[in-house]
Amino acid sequence: MINSARSIRMCPSILNADRSNLASEIDRVAGASDLLHLDVMDNIFVPNLTFSLHQSEEIIASSSLPVDAHLMIADPDRDAVLYAKAGAVSVTFHLEASTSPSRTIEAIRSAGSRASLAVKPGTPFEQVEPFLDQIDMLLIMTVEPGFGGQSFMAQMMPKVRQAREAIDSLGRDIWLQVDGGISMETIAIAAKAGADAFVAGSAVYKAQSPGEMLQTLRILATQASALE
Ligand code: DX5
Ligand code: ZN
Repeated sequence: MINSARSIRMCPSILNADRSNLASEIDRVAGASDLLHLDVMDNIFVPNLTFSLHQSEEIIASSSLPVDAHLMIADPDRDAVLYAKAGAVSVTFHLEASTSPSRTIEAIRSAGSRASLAVKPGTPFEQVEPFLDQIDMLLIMTVEPGFGGQSFMAQMMPKVRQAREAIDSLGRDIWLQVDGGISMETIAIAAKAGADAFVAGSAVYKAQSPGEMLQTLRILATQASALE
């Protein structure tokens, strides 16, 4: 079926950008991106530590792009709302870390942000499905969360297709994001499976021109999603 109406959203991740020069790293992608993907890791939920709440607040306040916060933290039921209050346009937390997803979704939305749930590769779609009608975006991880530069897990595509079908049958505009290993070689595979929001870290920041790479990725995703 041709679905030319699906909007594609590009979300560069600054995880592996030059952190000592973030403002200019953000400027390099701003013209070609929709959202800035901010990977928050607490060294508990994942074995890596990135931005603190305070650093995140500073990035959100100074970024020329709206921020898509991806929280890989142990207690999102307590802390996710703080990222919404800091002004992140979208706040994503992991289903695996939450004991009361509905309440956390509601808190994020009440603070004025889009609320999104993420699932790790080992978490089946059926576990997140009951919350689908409450969220603004679903993030299906295509690597184990924790590090940039890993290989895309094509075996996640049945989960993406399952999610796309469920979203289309609900009839709400819920974004379907993929994160991990997205590059010129893999983006069309994910777009064909039904993803419409794409996080890309190393493919973007390793390129000579991050902005041009994002444009290329967007074209590849748009073409593949129209072919669906
Ligand atoms: C991994 C992070 C990703 C990461 C993506 O846990 O959630 O956002 O930065 O990096 P690449 O595109 O290099 O896989
Ligand atoms: Zn991420």
